[in-house]
Amino acid sequence: MTRTLALLSALGLALTGCGQAGSAAPAAPAAPARPEATPAEKAALLASLPAPYDTADLDNGRRAFARCRSCHTITEGGPNMTGPNLWGIFGRTAGTHAGYNYSATVKAAGFTWDADHLDHWLENPRTFLPGNKMTFPGLPDPTDRRDVIAFLKVETGYTAPASPTTGP
Ligand code: HEC
Repeated sequence: MTRTLALLSALGLALTGCGQAGSAAPAAPAAPARPEATPAEKAALLASLPAPYDTADLDNGRRAFARCRSCHTITEGGPNMTGPNLWGIFGRTAGTHAGYNYSATVKAAGFTWDADHLDHWLENPRTFLPGNKMTFPGLPDPTDRRDVIAFLKVETGYTAPASPTTGP
């Protein structure tokens, strides 16, 4: 009995020691908010986009996006850097991502980001919204713009509208 108690208290001491050492251990990484879309899901989303985006080259889009990466993250909850995080950009009102300090021009722009607006913005950010602070010369090649827009649609959580609108 005495031996058991001694053992238990020795064990207790050992465990206490362990606990203190263990407190420095890193916490388990948080589970991602949602699983990444599978390649098949991405292909299906791409095919559902309106022309010309349905025939875009996602690999070229990813390469073109390399020119944006120094300033923008695209993952859900990703940090703002020189530019704002772009997760959920399609359907978002310009200049409204939480925690990012936009120029007055972008804050007052008032439109909602869609493929057309993004196409004009990326063609020449300076002339599209004069006075903005995105120091990027633009993507002059329309194919690069098509591909980077399709890449962003697939990678930033865009979901096709449930009932596609008809008309112009
Ligand atoms: C040198 C850094 C830099 C590069 C490179 C860059 N951006 Fe930006 N981007 C910014 C900044 C800064 C802003 C905020 C502009 C403002 O507030 O005037 C911005 C804003 C934006 C916005 C508007 C976001 C919103 O919430 O309204 C979009 C969309 C965007 N960038 C897309 C891109 C894409 C796509 C590329 C690559 C083709 C790119 N940017 C390259 C710095 C950059």
